[in-house]
Amino acid sequence: MQAFTCDRYGNADRLVLQEVPTPTPRPKEILVRVKAVSVNSWDWDIISGAPVMRIVGPFRPAYKTLGADLSGIVEKIGSAVSDFKIGDEVFGDVSDSGWGGFAEYVTGKAEDFAKKPKQLSFEDAACLPQAGLLGYQGVRTFGQVKPGDKVLINGAGGGAGMFACQIAKLDGAEVTGIDSANKFDAMRSFGADHVYDYKQVDYTKLEQKFDVIIDAVANKFPKAYRRALTPTGTFVMMGGKITSILSILLASRKNTEDGQKFKILMWNVNQADLNDLAQLVINQKIRVHIDKTFPFEQTADALQSIGDQNARGKVVIKVS
Ligand SMILES: NC(=O)c1ccc[n+]([C@@H]2O[C@H](COP(=O)([O-])OP(=O)(O)OC[C@H]3O[C@@H](n4cnc5c(N)ncnc54)[C@H](OP(=O)(O)O)[C@@H]3O)[C@@H](O)[C@H]2O)c1
Repeated sequence: MQAFTCDRYGNADRLVLQEVPTPTPRPKEILVRVKAVSVNSWDWDIISGAPVMRIVGPFRPAYKTLGADLSGIVEKIGSAVSDFKIGDEVFGDVSDSGWGGFAEYVTGKAEDFAKKPKQLSFEDAACLPQAGLLGYQGVRTFGQVKPGDKVLINGAGGGAGMFACQIAKLDGAEVTGIDSANKFDAMRSFGADHVYDYKQVDYTKLEQKFDVIIDAVANKFPKAYRRALTPTGTFVMMGGKITSILSILLASRKNTEDGQKFKILMWNVNQADLNDLAQLVINQKIRVHIDKTFPFEQTADALQSIGDQNARGKVVIKVS
């Protein structure tokens, strides 16, 4: 099969299209013929050698073939798989199965996939398992947003932020989105009531206090976030610096039922949430905003567009 591989850190031009053996599913895995794969900031962090990625791959990218968030058709099933059959249309995430989505075929744990409803396109479905679930679980599982809550989303113009904004709005919140000024229109189209440019405004110094803050790029210490939260507000760290993870983890030890709470979003791919998200899209409660769909041969351009921070929505690669 054809796959894009990379064995050195750098830009997306490190990707090489190669003929490699088609993988064989382990007992609890399925082999999927990839139809579409979306690109996430995580793919870029791996190839560019972000500090956190150097822990698992000190000298070269930890995974030879990137791409985790995808949709496709089941081609083979492992001996212990009972909930899928050959020919099923599926969508899921293979980041816990060794990556490999920038390829014609990929294997992944069956439990990290769900059946794709016919009404959902392969391209939209490929955006849901990672970016979609991060936004969904940030708002519902961790933020527990209620109608009337004032919710701030930092990084609201990005892949996961796009879903978090829409779901918070759907759940009745007043939404403030923070991102760069060139994403103001995008954030408004995702449902943000108020928008600020992170290069101009430090949200932790706004007068307004928030019931829930979901931060995709946390880079401050808890003291600053406490200032921006209501007395019983919740801070959800979706992504950010290693130092922030450690300090948020420490702050979370002081969480109380009637006080401020700090949580680290432990993203969890599961079929119930994938099915729920798919229904939200099918019922037009939320929309997948795709910035551009690239053909498979242009996978490196798709990845580079994420690295260059040019995308206004999701970037998708149509593999077959
Ligand atoms: N918790 C988990 O289990 C888990 C799992 C997977 C991924 N993640 C993390 O989730 C986060 C979100 O991923 P994503 O795919 O949505 O990333 P993304 O598409 O790159 O979105 C991030 C957004 O934040 C903006 N931004 C950059 N610096 C900012 C700042 N200082 N303040 C406010 N906004 C800023 C970026 O805009 P610019 O164009 O200006 O850069 C971009 O629009 C990432 O940190 C990723 O590592 C977490």
